[in-house]
Amino acid sequence: MMSDTFSRTEIIGLVVRLTLVSAVTFLSIKWLMNQVDPTNKSKKKAKKRAQEQLRRLAGSGNTPLSVDKLSDYEMMIAAHLVHPEDILVTWEDIAGLQGLVQELRETVILPIQRKDLFTDSQLTQPPKGVLLHGPPGCGKTLIAKATAKEAGTRFINLDVSILTDKWYGESQKLAAAVFTLAVKLQPCIVFIDEIDSFLRMRNSTDHEATAMMKAQFMSFWDGLSTDSSCTVIIMGATNRPQDLDRAILRRMPATFHVPMPNAPQRLQILQLILENEPVSSEVNLTTLSKSTDGFSGSDLRELCRNASVYRVRDYMRNVPANEEACISNRNAMTDSEDEFHDALRPITMDDLVKSLNKMKESKMHCGSLPVPRLDLD
Ligand SMILES: Nc1ncnc2c1ncn2[C@@H]1O[C@H](COP(=O)(O)OP(=O)(O)OP(=O)(O)O)[C@@H](O)[C@H]1O
Ligand SMILES: [Mg+2]
Repeated sequence: MMSDTFSRTEIIGLVVRLTLVSAVTFLSIKWLMNQVDPTNKSKKKAKKRAQEQLRRLAGSGNTPLSVDKLSDYEMMIAAHLVHPEDILVTWEDIAGLQGLVQELRETVILPIQRKDLFTDSQLTQPPKGVLLHGPPGCGKTLIAKATAKEAGTRFINLDVSILTDKWYGESQKLAAAVFTLAVKLQPCIVFIDEIDSFLRMRNSTDHEATAMMKAQFMSFWDGLSTDSSCTVIIMGATNRPQDLDRAILRRMPATFHVPMPNAPQRLQILQLILENEPVSSEVNLTTLSKSTDGFSGSDLRELCRNASVYRVRDYMRNVPANEEACISNRNAMTDSEDEFHDALRPITMDDLVKSLNKMKESKMHCGSLPVPRLDLD
C-alpha cells in the first residue's frame, strides 16, 4: 500500500539536500560578492600590511601591543600605521622653525613621553587635537613626519580616502575604527594630512553618508576628551584652515601656524639644502635669501635642484660625443662615477641666480608672485 506520508529516510534525504543547496547558494553568493567588490583585493592587501606593521611595532618600543583583538575595520586602519624606522625625516631636517618645533615638542610630545610629569594637573594634559596650518610647501608634512619619527608613539598616517566606502554604513564603521584602534594602541597620534578635504564645512548639500561620518568622527573625538587618561592625539595639516568646520577647529585647540619663511629663515633653509652639495666658495646665500621673497621651503629646494642641474647640463654640452659614450659604458663602475663627479664643476652663484630668475618669471605667470611695477617717469 502506498503511504501518503513521507518515510523517515525521505525526510532525512530532503533535509540533507536542502542543507547542501543552502550551503552552495551561500558560498556562491559570497564568492560573487567578493568578485563584484572592486576593493576586495586592496582589503586583503591592507590586512596583510596591517599584520606586518603590527608585528614590527610589537617588537619595538616599550608599550606592549596585543595584536589579535582587532576587528576587520581596525585592521583596515592599522594598515596605515607608520614604523619610525621607515621615516627618514628628523627635527634636524627642518630649518628655520626651531621655535615652532620646540613648542610642538613641549605641548604634544613631552606630555606623552613623560606622562609622570603631567599627572598632577588636568591643565597639563596633551591636547586631543593639533592643527598645523600655513601656506603650501612650508613644512607642515615635514613636521608631521619628524613627529612620527621622534615621538616614540604609535603613529597612524590616515589616508582619508579609505573612509569612503561604497557600502552604506561601512564608512561610519571605519571612522569609528580609527578611534577604537587608536585607543587600543595608545599612546598614539593619528595624522590627517590635507584635513580640509575630509572635514570641511558641513552644508546641506553633503551626502547623507558623508554627513553621518563627519558627525560620528566628531562624537568619537569628543569621547577622547572626556577620558583624561587616554593619550590619543588627532593631528591635522591644512593650507586652507578657513574651510574647516568650526566644530572641528574647536576640537583642535593647539594650532600652529607654519608661515612663509622670512629672509633669515630662508637663509637657514638654503644652508640646510646645500649642506652636502658641492657649492662654489663665491656663493653668497645671504644675498640669495634676501632676493627670494615669497618663496616657500619647497620653492627653495626646487631652486637649488634646478641650479644643480645646470652644471650637469654644462658638463654634458662640453664633453665630446666619443667621451660621452665612454662614460655611459663605464657607468656601472664606481671609479668612473667618482671621476664623473670630479669632472662636474660646483654649483655657482650664476647657476642659482639663473634658476631664481626662471622661477620668479614662472611664479609671476602663475600669479603666486606679484609682477613688479614699472616706473614710467
Ligand atoms: N622649513 C623647512 N626646512 C627644510 N625644508 C623645507 C622646509 N619647508 C619646506 N621644505 C621643503 O619643502 C618640501 C615640502 O614641504 P612640505 O611637504 O612639508 O610642505 P607642506 O607645508 O606640507 O605643503 P602642502 O600644504 O602643499 O602640503 C619638503 O619636503 C622640504 O624639502
Ligand atoms: Mg603637506
